[in-house]
Amino acid sequence: TQVTAYRAAILHSLADPARVGLDASHAYYEDGVLVVADGHICDIGPADQVLARQPTNLEVIRFENKLITAGFIDTHIHFPQTEMIASYGEQLLDWLNNYTFPEERKFADPAHARRVASFFLDELLRNGTTTAMVFGTVHKASVDAFFSESEKRNTRMIAGKVMMDRHAPDYLLDTPESAYADSKALIERWHHKGRQLYAVTPRFAPTSTADQLAVAGRLLQEYPDVYLQTHLSENKQEIAWVKELFPERKGYLDVYDHFGLLGERSVFAHAVHLEQEECERMGETDSVISFCPTSNLFLGSGLFDLPRMEAHQVRVGLGTDVGGGTSFSMLQTIAEAYKIQQLQQHKLHPLKALYLATLGGAKALSLDDRIGNLTVGKEADFLVLDLHATPLIQARMKNAHNLFEQLFVLMMLGDDRVIAETYIYGDCCYRRH
Ligand code: GUN
Ligand code: FE
Repeated sequence: TQVTAYRAAILHSLADPARVGLDASHAYYEDGVLVVADGHICDIGPADQVLARQPTNLEVIRFENKLITAGFIDTHIHFPQTEMIASYGEQLLDWLNNYTFPEERKFADPAHARRVASFFLDELLRNGTTTAMVFGTVHKASVDAFFSESEKRNTRMIAGKVMMDRHAPDYLLDTPESAYADSKALIERWHHKGRQLYAVTPRFAPTSTADQLAVAGRLLQEYPDVYLQTHLSENKQEIAWVKELFPERKGYLDVYDHFGLLGERSVFAHAVHLEQEECERMGETDSVISFCPTSNLFLGSGLFDLPRMEAHQVRVGLGTDVGGGTSFSMLQTIAEAYKIQQLQQHKLHPLKALYLATLGGAKALSLDDRIGNLTVGKEADFLVLDLHATPLIQARMKNAHNLFEQLFVLMMLGDDRVIAETYIYGDCCYRRH
């Protein structure tokens, strides 16, 4: 067994600050040691204490001006939209028609899917994201390509084939029957293969018939531990359209509810414009929201009210929503989340933001028994952050007098340049040049 120790400042999240307060929400070791063996964390703590209880021949890698923390978790992203990020001028529905659907058409070619999946996973690692919940396209092979590339890197990923049988160009449509057969085959092939996990993925209510949403519900019944991912109440025109398409339902969320799609492994992206009753139903069913700040700003969708959803006991993770979102960086995503809360007179403390990007994301994905922080026994997905990543960050750090201020500077000014190294299951998978 190869045992390696890493010595630097270490910060990780232990619980939601909203539940336990700021002090109990994290552990911080100014001079800490993290010990990793067989892909798992086997010790962590102040350097003097850890080194005293470990063998004296322990190999220790030492870092200066660095901060070790857990890998970031992105709870909503589209890998096929990587090369259409930053498409000008439209809001959701026109953006889908004008840019997204033509781009997703290219994934009918498995070679294209494999090339983009490979680039996408490398880009996640460059940005310190070690786990993500990922949309493919309607093409089954897009998801085979994605999981194959993830398996090569040993990353823990959740992904699924888009189900879409109406209101998109013919070249991107499946049917209830083909969506069922393709999803089932992908679940059998990939769910729990190594670190890979499957999510049933109806794109959103407007692009699935009632028959297809029923198929999604049937898959969840047949495979109780697969996930569900979709979009919900992102844009006002979208919501009005859902009400036209499903007049017999109480509202947008009720469409999904009717087909049995709510629950503790169901992740709904956006949820910007929920009605009171919908907030309550999300809480009752322990369903999850992915808050996607850069996307909500870029597509002009609206301002997500985080305290409101937390008052309803809804688990919330952060998502980049690339290519509706404008950055792969969870640090940039946090910066925009902070500003969205500011516009509503809410505060987002840096320790709360760290929680959302790590342990909170793991809880949102029901993976907090395996990832999300650096407690003993967890899978060793972690980051080495550079406290002097850019000239401006280095200059500003001189005036950062405590941990919160340092962390906040990294969050407001940081991006991929802050990620010095990314470790997956104990192995260094990315090192900045
Ligand atoms: N709603 C349905 N499809 C999409 C998508 O691809 N991106 C976003 N942001 N919203 C959607
Ligand atoms: Fe999305």
